[in-house]
Amino acid sequence: MSDLVKGYYAKGEERDRLTTPRGQVEFERTKEIVLRRRPDAPSTVADIGGGAGPYALWLAGRGHLVEHRDLMPLHVQQLEAAADGNPLVRTAVGDARELDLPDRSVDAVLLLGPLYHLPRRADRVRALEEAWRVLRPGGPVFAAAISRWAPRLDGEFAQRLYERDERISPLIPDVERTGWMPPLFDGSFSAFCHRPGQLRAELRSAGFQDVDLVGVEGPGFLMHDLAERLADPLGRTVVFETARAFERVPELLGLSPHLIATGNRPA
Ligand SMILES: C[S@@+](CC[C@H](N)C(=O)[O-])C[C@H]1O[C@@H](n2cnc3c(N)ncnc32)[C@H](O)[C@@H]1O
Repeated sequence: MSDLVKGYYAKGEERDRLTTPRGQVEFERTKEIVLRRRPDAPSTVADIGGGAGPYALWLAGRGHLVEHRDLMPLHVQQLEAAADGNPLVRTAVGDARELDLPDRSVDAVLLLGPLYHLPRRADRVRALEEAWRVLRPGGPVFAAAISRWAPRLDGEFAQRLYERDERISPLIPDVERTGWMPPLFDGSFSAFCHRPGQLRAELRSAGFQDVDLVGVEGPGFLMHDLAERLADPLGRTVVFETARAFERVPELLGLSPHLIATGNRPA
């Protein structure tokens, strides 16, 4: 992870990211996608690049033993504080490309973040191969990526970044061509942005089978009144039902800011 990205995460904003309206949609939809193929509790789940631990805490709350690893010591400390000695949460600083977990030691792997910050394909496949190595045969990996079109749709269009700095809009075509998004303004995130087929191909290169690819959020993040819609039971249902209806439509896969590919280590 570059010093710029470390500087971004050192601001400590990751802990509360999923509490905003758009973050809530990402969190609820990601949990829903994980529940479809996760092993039954009790089981051991590796949460690699788990940030401040929202998914680790959720899984531990459901009776899973969680092996959380993250490159940022701050995130490990934040999870330790939140877990408050819960024996089902084990955390340490670790790199997705070189895990300290034994071969075939976990029942499922969440890789919800590291692929964003590995600009070289070889490193992304290496992180996926590490997930494959630590998985027991038959176990699933859940690998998240940022969509190739998120900088335009989310950054420029929804968040109106063009008002912040006129130099941002001219950068977008290059991001769409190469996949690499540099920091669009001082202190912002840089990331690799996947085309959907690219993420699927990377899982297959690492040896995963039965790869399933879905868009996570659907179009809800584009709505300026998302908070209001989520507070209304019917409005909330429509936001989530639309995300589900669009999740595997090939033409719409890249619409969601996040993609999740799920694949199994062959049994
Ligand atoms: C956007 S956050 C996602 C956190 C959490 N998984 C979630 O979905 O909310 C990405 C996380 O990946 C971590 N990360 C980035 N590169 C990594 C690597 N090579 N190994 C382990 N963690 C990494 C970052 O420190 C950060 O906590």
